[in-house]
Amino acid sequence: MSEKIHMIEDIDEKQFEYMNLVSEIMEIRKRGEKPLAFIHTYGCQQNVADSERIKGMLEQCGYSFTDDVNQADFILFNTCAVREHAEDRVFGNVGALKSLKRRHPSILIALCGCMMEQEHIANRIYKSFPFVGLVFGTHSLQNFPELLYNSLVSGKRTFEIGNDDRKIYEGIPIHRDGTFKGWLPIMYGCDNFCSYCIVPYVRGRERSRDPEVVISEAKKMIKSGYKDITLLGQNVNSYGKNLDTDINFASLLKKIDSIDGDYLLRFMTSHPKDCTKELIDTIAQGKHISTHLHLPFQSGSDRILKLMNRKYDREKYLEIVNYAKEKIHGLSLTSDIIVGFPGETYEDFKETISLVREVEFTSLFTFIYSPRVGTPAAKMDDPVPYEEKSKWFRELLDVQEEIAAKRCSEMVGSNLRVLVEGVNEKTGELNCRTSGNIVVEVPGSPELVGDFCNVQITKARNWILKGIIK
Ligand code: 5AD
Ligand code: SF4
Repeated sequence: MSEKIHMIEDIDEKQFEYMNLVSEIMEIRKRGEKPLAFIHTYGCQQNVADSERIKGMLEQCGYSFTDDVNQADFILFNTCAVREHAEDRVFGNVGALKSLKRRHPSILIALCGCMMEQEHIANRIYKSFPFVGLVFGTHSLQNFPELLYNSLVSGKRTFEIGNDDRKIYEGIPIHRDGTFKGWLPIMYGCDNFCSYCIVPYVRGRERSRDPEVVISEAKKMIKSGYKDITLLGQNVNSYGKNLDTDINFASLLKKIDSIDGDYLLRFMTSHPKDCTKELIDTIAQGKHISTHLHLPFQSGSDRILKLMNRKYDREKYLEIVNYAKEKIHGLSLTSDIIVGFPGETYEDFKETISLVREVEFTSLFTFIYSPRVGTPAAKMDDPVPYEEKSKWFRELLDVQEEIAAKRCSEMVGSNLRVLVEGVNEKTGELNCRTSGNIVVEVPGSPELVGDFCNVQITKARNWILKGIIK
């Protein structure tokens, strides 16, 4: 029996009192006008889902939202720490707010999310960005109304970097960005400690939400018209570990799939070490489950996979991929790859290329290794220069471009069900997405946005498909 390591609680009632208090203060300060919040989210969908909760709380604090940073009373960046590039962008964009704060001293500038859970980053913000008034980490989200209230009332800088990484707080209000496409977190944190990755340090231990709460949220979303629902977690395949209930990801997926309605159920991210045949069978037999499987393999070299602490090898990865190919009709596979892990040689990299050629992914998310302070990989010898890694990276992109073009051209002539997601600003055509997560552009009426349509694929332009509505 595994140890039950976390507790599920409702957010503290007093946070709702703080929401009312903020709303009263802002009503006086703005003389009855609605205060405006500008929220910018960096990074993964988990961050997007967190921002939707922050927006939910802000809404109850009386705020409306603006896309114009110059109009905002409250500015928040929800940050990502996964690579240095993401952090540099945050520093650049925060720096650019200095003059705005000088011109409008009453605005409150806040930073939250994964970057803020790193001590060296919080220290840098404290010292170098004195105009940032509020900083809180991923573990302090449920106290946001209180933090906001205290900042507004005291005018003092507030830094709240939590360590409460074993709890789940339910009952936080949500303001969803989309009306037909939505995110549904099923778990938080990660226990895998891949040697390059900062996530377990900034998002804390892996903890699953109660299945009943997840199922009831899914039912509500389906009832209110959500057509495309993505179940979120750093490693959804290990859902249910440490819960008292006897449930795993495949059985959760089955339960949600049995809810009546016309919708598509997606999920991410999967870890190959926990991706079971039971899960593949569940996808294959699903009524609503997407045929897209995002299964990051990171490297094709067993030597590098060991150094990465990934706990599977190339053979195990190919075994599950081949099983999925055999069972799931219309399977679309995507993956994440890191190029230039410390000590990786060109021979190792060639193993990655050969795996990419063997599997033929629909698309890839490729990254050059970025050292993260505090991770084991950051202490490993890394002799290959960045320019060399960039060359390998471009080689990988070229190979994948060729494969994606081939995969897309194979789809010409097929009939697919797609969700119409929006209107393409340049072409005026409809942007649609297949169950396999491939973009299709079709001519059609904007009224179709948010509906499923059947389309025939007529053309493939690189990795984008063109079609007509049938
Ligand atoms: N450097 C480069 N890429 C990284 N990723 C995670 N950590 C790092 C890092 N330090 C990539 C992995 C992961 C994706 C979300 O980001 O490929 O799957
Ligand atoms: Fe990072 Fe690995 Fe966890 Fe993914 S599974 S979040 S790569 S530690």
